[in-house]
Amino acid sequence: MLIDNHNRQINYLRLAVTDRCNLRCNYCMPSEGIDFAENNKLLTVDELIQVSEVLVGQGIDKIRITGGEPFVRKDLMRLLRALTKMSGLNDISVTTNATVIGPHIDELKELGIKNINVSLDSINRETFERITRRNQFDTVHNNLIRLITEGFNVRINFIVLEGQNEQDIIPILEVMKHHKVSVRFLEEMPFNGGSKNFDGIKWDHKAILEHVTLAYPNFQKLESPKTSTSVNYKIPGHAGTFGIIPSFTRTFCGSCNRLRITATGDVITCLYGKPKSNIRDIIRGEAAKEGIENAILKAVGSRAKTGFEAQKEHSRTVFDNSMTSIGG
Ligand code: GTP
Ligand code: SF4
Repeated sequence: MLIDNHNRQINYLRLAVTDRCNLRCNYCMPSEGIDFAENNKLLTVDELIQVSEVLVGQGIDKIRITGGEPFVRKDLMRLLRALTKMSGLNDISVTTNATVIGPHIDELKELGIKNINVSLDSINRETFERITRRNQFDTVHNNLIRLITEGFNVRINFIVLEGQNEQDIIPILEVMKHHKVSVRFLEEMPFNGGSKNFDGIKWDHKAILEHVTLAYPNFQKLESPKTSTSVNYKIPGHAGTFGIIPSFTRTFCGSCNRLRITATGDVITCLYGKPKSNIRDIIRGEAAKEGIENAILKAVGSRAKTGFEAQKEHSRTVFDNSMTSIGG
């Protein structure tokens, strides 16, 4: 079992498989993209499997695959197949922008990988294209509908962006009224790859909730696991639920059970902190298993208590990092 220096059990790995993405969301990176890692700097699928095995041996029982966009990686399904055979791993989830997941939906279903979080910041074509700078609205829409009708446990992540998509908050709840999905509204975070200044947020969880209250005054708060990022609610008559993720105000740090490994092998113990070590060279050297175990134990033993504390590890307040290289 992995216990951190604040007595929090770490059982959840967010494993990024690529830093590349086929969208160019304006809150994540500039239109020309960022300095993506060279291919030989990325962990190979065999290395991703090996790292996962070691960490599952140390007590990780949930892995969420993140990116970049995980499905731009051609060998992703081989990794997923291997993970489904790993004993001790109880939950394999994926976060995706749903642009290129289509050809894999049948196999995901066969593998029993049911938890798919879809990043979707607008249900309006123009707004979607303005934010993502790409023309993928129909593909995303079709894949989303397929995932929902095929019975996946779908959660939509909608980042509320001042001046860009706030007008879609109520419409997306209306559209999803008859679908058993969870729509989660996220606070914007400062990891924009230097694409714009970040001056804090207008749409924090309180503002989002107040906005929803105007349209649906009768929603009820739901019980959520204490490690949940979202506070969740139910609107009477709606098939699904909605939630708010206070990712910028970070009210869930007290029960944080997460560890991150980026596509290039950086070990990150807090989304807001600096990498603690890199396991790529360790895994490519002698005694890889012991090396990884030690690197993880050391990282977990020196975690910041909160994102605010971790943030002090940086010398600046506005991060040039992009969400796509941290793995979300
Ligand atoms: P589960 O893995 O099922 O718990 O879902 P999740 O909400 O953690 O996963 P997802 O990949 O959908 O994350 C959605 C968003 O939540 C991310 O893009 C972040 O904005 C935020 N988030 C996820 N993990 C953390 C975290 O550890 N700290 C903070 N501050 N925000 C997080
Ligand atoms: Fe955990 Fe850091 Fe996120 Fe807080 S901000 S929940 S400590 S990863």
